[in-house]
Amino acid sequence: MKRKEILENLHKELDDYRFIHTLGVAYTASMLAMAYNYNIDDAYLAGLLHDCAKCIPNDEKIRLCEENNIKIDKLEYENPSLLHAKLGEYVANKKYGIENKEILRAIRLHTTGYSDMTLLDKIIYVADYIEPKRDKARNLEYYRDLAFKDLDKTTFMIIEDTINYNKEKGKELIKDTLIAYEYFIKMEEVK
Ligand SMILES: [Fe+2]
Ligand SMILES: [Fe+2]
Repeated sequence: MKRKEILENLHKELDDYRFIHTLGVAYTASMLAMAYNYNIDDAYLAGLLHDCAKCIPNDEKIRLCEENNIKIDKLEYENPSLLHAKLGEYVANKKYGIENKEILRAIRLHTTGYSDMTLLDKIIYVADYIEPKRDKARNLEYYRDLAFKDLDKTTFMIIEDTINYNKEKGKELIKDTLIAYEYFIKMEEVK
């Protein structure tokens, strides 16, 4: 699918808030790609599509996952919104024709992180958090600065913040977020 067509589709599929956020993530991902020598076009595309499944109604999210053998765990059944990342990978591939594995993986992992995060995984994870229209996330100004100096540290600290936030709110943690956290802890030990 051509870039213009992707944009037109996203404009239709996403609500205004999500569409503006999406443009912000694509833009920020491009900037980070420039800073860290990643393919700018791919980073832009991953940013553009990271939330492509976000505005699918929740019951529809569950149905689509079930029909296409995308595993749903207990926590995801309780909060179907969590499914938008792995369903996003599916939609990006099937509807938008994305075949680049790195882009698809970055979409799948964008809310939780994971072990062995690639440069693009980190770019999208961080861009999602610091894009210009975000205003409620913790330590935003700090991360916006740090992201262009130390991407690993920024990713790790945002994961840690997310874990602490969920603990404070008494929310159950997603397994992949903990896997990501442990991955960065180990990486620090090796350093
Ligand atoms: Fe998302
Ligand atoms: Fe997002």
